[in-house]
Amino acid sequence: MSKIVFLSDLHLSPTHGFFWENFRIGCEAANAAGAEAVIVNGDLCINGPDSDAEMDFAARALSRLRGEVLALPGNHDVGDEPPGQDAKQLIDGARLARWNDAFGSDRFTLDIGAWRLLGVNAQLFGSGLPEEAEQTAWLAQQLAGAQGRPVALVLHKPLFIESADEAEATASSLNPAPRAALLPLLRAGGVRMVISGHLHSSRDRVVEGIRHLWLPALAFLGSASHGGTPAVGAVTVDFAGPEAVVADLPLPGAVPHDLAALKGHGRYKFLRDMPECPPGMERSVLGDAAA
Ligand SMILES: [Fe+2]
Ligand SMILES: [Fe+2]
Repeated sequence: MSKIVFLSDLHLSPTHGFFWENFRIGCEAANAAGAEAVIVNGDLCINGPDSDAEMDFAARALSRLRGEVLALPGNHDVGDEPPGQDAKQLIDGARLARWNDAFGSDRFTLDIGAWRLLGVNAQLFGSGLPEEAEQTAWLAQQLAGAQGRPVALVLHKPLFIESADEAEATASSLNPAPRAALLPLLRAGGVRMVISGHLHSSRDRVVEGIRHLWLPALAFLGSASHGGTPAVGAVTVDFAGPEAVVADLPLPGAVPHDLAALKGHGRYKFLRDMPECPPGMERSVLGDAAA
């Protein structure tokens, strides 16, 4: 077996349950997909950087997935790398520790089919934290150990939007300086594919010899301004041969939520600022998850 289910951008919360039903549908589809493992590519939470309860809720929610589950953090889990989209929620040691306590690790190596998959913490690139250098050293080591296997790098944010020479600092992708440092390492290490979430949009294209796959979100639609196709969904990727085969994983009944409409078209800046929705969800869902 060489098929992996990719879920991304769940945006779960015990108090703000807008996307719980989509997640429930995603779990059912993932569990029925007959895959080797499920990779959850970041933004499991809405307010993970500041909420132990939310991180705990996301971890308990993932226990609904059967088989091996590999989770990577996103900006809504451990905070952004600077400058970030919210200066109050930048990655730091405490936020990283909260993730690691809940999920055990923020990176993985998985040899599957013909490939080596390397999952990393996108939020560390450009963070300046000691864990950034540690992760880069680990990545170099894991690339060196691929022994000729093509490598797919999995991380929450895309390396760039259109091209590797983009000069502006942005919360939409890796920033220019860490990207410039990372790309030569990836090229020398045989990375053939980069799989990212974060933009809540689908896109699959080859740029300078590396295939960049953007994953749809489970929660809500992204913006078309990034160039991909805003999408709610999930995919499977089969890594049996040298060319990875990507397929949509149907999610019957999943709702393509519109974020602006949910937030009252400007009434609330962040989902976390909104009233509880639906009230009492924490009790009902946690009870359900424990059952
Ligand atoms: Fe997201
Ligand atoms: Fe994100």
